[in-house]
Amino acid sequence: INNIGLFTSGGDAPGMNAAIRAVVRTATYYNLQVTGIRRGYEGMINGEIFPMDGKSVANIIQRGGTILKTARSEQFRTPEGRKIAYEQLQKHGIDALVAIGGDGTFTGARAFGAEYDIPIVGLPGTIDNDLIGTDFTIGYDTAINTVIDAVDKIRDTAESHDRVFIVEVMGRDSGLIALRTGIASGAEAIVIPETETDLNALCNRLEHGRKDKSSKIVLVAEGDNAGGAFEIGRHIKERFPHYDTRVSILGHIQRGGRPSCMDRVLASRIGVAAVEALRNGHRNEMIGIIHNELSYTPFEHAIKHNVEINPNFLKIVEILSI
Ligand code: F6P
Repeated sequence: INNIGLFTSGGDAPGMNAAIRAVVRTATYYNLQVTGIRRGYEGMINGEIFPMDGKSVANIIQRGGTILKTARSEQFRTPEGRKIAYEQLQKHGIDALVAIGGDGTFTGARAFGAEYDIPIVGLPGTIDNDLIGTDFTIGYDTAINTVIDAVDKIRDTAESHDRVFIVEVMGRDSGLIALRTGIASGAEAIVIPETETDLNALCNRLEHGRKDKSSKIVLVAEGDNAGGAFEIGRHIKERFPHYDTRVSILGHIQRGGRPSCMDRVLASRIGVAAVEALRNGHRNEMIGIIHNELSYTPFEHAIKHNVEINPNFLKIVEILSI
């Protein structure tokens, strides 16, 4: 390989810039060219392609978002769109790709790699942590720290007003953000899509907890199967009119901000590994870290939607919220 095309795609995640920096600098270290592609697959199709060098990634390791910008591309889902994308890569002399993103990104990479003879490796970049083949995705650690910071603040006002708060966090159809931040913020209960939610049981739990508690926090993952934070709030209000209940949706604040040290180190490690993997003949694989060791997972396996949740985590919330 001579010229690596690099792009970010799907929802941005803190630490993507650290990964971009690592890929560009490692390629430079091995005397390879790197070509930046703006706005993911969309920019690939539109020819938003430009040369990068070690200097073009100076002073970005600490910045949230992605300097390459990102997009979700409808066109790339079609064989026609992918054909144009491939022609653009050929035109710019790109002979390998590093894709940074989540399941949508790797679904696209998988289709592309099957149709065209171009080696692609992926770096897991999503706050959701919902990929198989890595303990943590780039952005997850920063996002969960943003969540606990926000929930700690909500706890202050909840405690002052003796309120029940239903706080909704992101994660699409995964409860991994809610699960971990539920423990870390001392939530009274968590609601996640991976388990069935019985709203009456949830209410019983709130009611039968310690009586002298002045605030209660229910942490809800956005993909929950109980109808969402407002519906849960409505149910609690109906059952316990004496509770002063509020709903708070944290939203896109969870995607921004300076990446944590953990995210910067993860992104740097697997960014270096991505270039080395391409040099060693890897293709169609996502690079992650499992038990502190690099791991290589075929795209089709990485995007299987069944990242298992640790049932002990649920039990921990139950035990510690009494
Ligand atoms: O995948 C990351 C994520 O932030 C999810 O947690 C969320 O469901 C989704 O992206 C929101 O996407 P958008 O910013 O396009 O609304």
